Amino acid sequence: MPGAPPDGLPVPPDGRLEPGALAELRGSSLGIYVHVPFCATRCGYCDFNTYTAAELGGGGARDRYAGLAIQEIKLARLVLGDAAPAVSTVFFGGGTPTVLPPADLAAILGAIGAEFGLAPGAEVTTEANPESVDQRSLARLREAGFTRISLGMQSAAEHVLNVLDRSHTPDRPEQCVAWARAAGFAHVSLDLIYGTPGETAKDWDLSVRSALDAGPDHISAYALIVEEGTRLAARIRRGELDPPDDDEMADRYLAADDLLTAAGLRWYEISNWAAGPGSACRHNLLYWTGGNWWGVGPGAHSHVGGTRWWNVRHPAAYSARITAGVSPGQAREVLSEAERGAERIMLETRLAAGVPVSALGHAGRRAAEVAAADGLADAGALGAGRVVLTRPGRLLADAVVRGLTG
Ligand SMILES: C[S@@+](CC[C@H](N)C(=O)[O-])C[C@H]1O[C@@H](n2cnc3c(N)ncnc32)[C@H](O)[C@@H]1O
Ligand code: SF4
Repeated sequence: MPGAPPDGLPVPPDGRLEPGALAELRGSSLGIYVHVPFCATRCGYCDFNTYTAAELGGGGARDRYAGLAIQEIKLARLVLGDAAPAVSTVFFGGGTPTVLPPADLAAILGAIGAEFGLAPGAEVTTEANPESVDQRSLARLREAGFTRISLGMQSAAEHVLNVLDRSHTPDRPEQCVAWARAAGFAHVSLDLIYGTPGETAKDWDLSVRSALDAGPDHISAYALIVEEGTRLAARIRRGELDPPDDDEMADRYLAADDLLTAAGLRWYEISNWAAGPGSACRHNLLYWTGGNWWGVGPGAHSHVGGTRWWNVRHPAAYSARITAGVSPGQAREVLSEAERGAERIMLETRLAAGVPVSALGHAGRRAAEVAAADGLADAGALGAGRVVLTRPGRLLADAVVRGLTG
């Protein structure tokens, strides 16, 4: 989850929402995100809202976390009231949710089911570091009702894993996929990162091929972002490591797209490929199509009917709020129609389904025509009323989006 902006409107202590936001929720889909802000160690490139045991000190301890999250789920039920439909997607992210015992994750999922009900065929995902799961824990998660597992693989090249501070061996993710399949998971995803300093085209080829060989039905491939304040950024600043190169990044993206497509996976969002429509991550699609979700946990973001809010970031501050019986919401904002429109264009342009021309303003429609003339948007799709990025367009998505929202 991105870092919480500091400003915004105050959240009332009981967390209540305006009737207009609840009215939009009625009859729509609802997702629940559970942020688990713990990791065994911190990877040098990662600035997510997550803490090692040493970073936490005494505050916000892991063993109390499930109880706190369950309290927030009860608060969510009170706030959303009878406007809330049964939950169609649940996503445990982090951090590393699987540093908690499976029984804790099961208890949190059980509370979501008890408070809201799970819709038939609900998707229930947890992220996992390959080091943090084994055959037994994966079987227990499946028994508890998890349907999908998303593993951080990052690379198959040992020297790349070392630069990224990953502690797992290159073959561990493949082993985890096999355990997950044996446990009965129909949906297994692997995350890859490209553009790590020192990574060659051959390393990346090996990584994508190894990910495919493991047999997941979904792969995410992210360009390495050098986040300010991370150990990786400091090493690059000191000249110990080279910064990622834009042209190489583009080559890596195209190489991945070639290999993944040849293996039968299709892109459905710029950084995400799935074996078929049933393998796409429905929870992420909810984010990308302006859906409603409640984010549980420190720093988690939520969106219901045009109201967006974010929780206090530190686990100790979160614990203090929940224990005092007040909303952990730090601040909120009510999006205007114009803001919602711009956000829709920004997110849906990144999807293979694209964004309808009817969502664009006058300047945006002209920009769509220019993008099609430049080969960045599909001319046929535009004729049929949608802006869909071409392969070159995916490489320049940010620039295209700037034009479309203009
Ligand atoms: C919460 S982690 C996944 C689960 C687990 N914590 C792990 O790392 O194995 C989510 C994913 O974000 C991606 N990620 C984190 N920081 C990144 C960065 N600076 N640049 C690109 N991808 C990043 C990684 O691919 C990671 O797998
Ligand atoms: S990449 Fe994953 S394991 Fe590494 S610090 Fe970030 S959240 Fe934790």
